[in-house]
Amino acid sequence: MDAQAKKIALRKIPHGVYIIGVAQDGQLNAFTGTWLTQVSFTPPLVALGIRKDSHSLSMIQHAKVFSVNILGKEQKPLAEHFVKPATVIGEKLKTVAHRAGKTGAPLLDDAIAFVECEVREIANELGDHAVVIGEVVEAGVRNDVPALTLIDTGWHYGG
Ligand SMILES: Cc1cc2nc3c(=O)[nH]c(=O)nc-3n(C[C@H](O)[C@H](O)[C@H](O)COP(=O)(O)O)c2cc1C
Repeated sequence: MDAQAKKIALRKIPHGVYIIGVAQDGQLNAFTGTWLTQVSFTPPLVALGIRKDSHSLSMIQHAKVFSVNILGKEQKPLAEHFVKPATVIGEKLKTVAHRAGKTGAPLLDDAIAFVECEVREIANELGDHAVVIGEVVEAGVRNDVPALTLIDTGWHYGG
């Protein structure tokens, strides 16, 4: 395989930019994620690729819930804030207004929309990311405008 072609081709797959929220035993965390897609209408399922070495994966494995906070076109700075790994759990959320959702996972006040998910399956055998499949159990829309995408940010995550 041509490694450069593989990288360029995979980076052409369009992605959104989300703040994924997690909660476990009263502790909250959130990170910037892009590998998310809907994979079923009935029930409504989404699949999320999540780093095996992240704090958030271990929280998801235990608490079996997560939120997807969808950002607007002007909200790259918010995505930037959540890129760094948590050094202290909850630290990243201290300066960002949020509330706990129905599942307990954090919902950012400024997100344009959100979904909350209960984890139904985790594929953890292959690769450096686990694939978490969540059923959407709650949703809300604050501002029905176009969402931030990876292309808007000029960043890459993939290849
Ligand atoms: C543009 C961009 C997209 C990212 N997408 C993902 C993703 O889809 N899944 C993932 O696990 N990490 C993704 N990350 C990395 C996480 O944001 C990062 O690992 C985060 O530090 C994990 O935080 P935690 O250790 O506090 O859970 C992405 C990073 C960037 C810069």
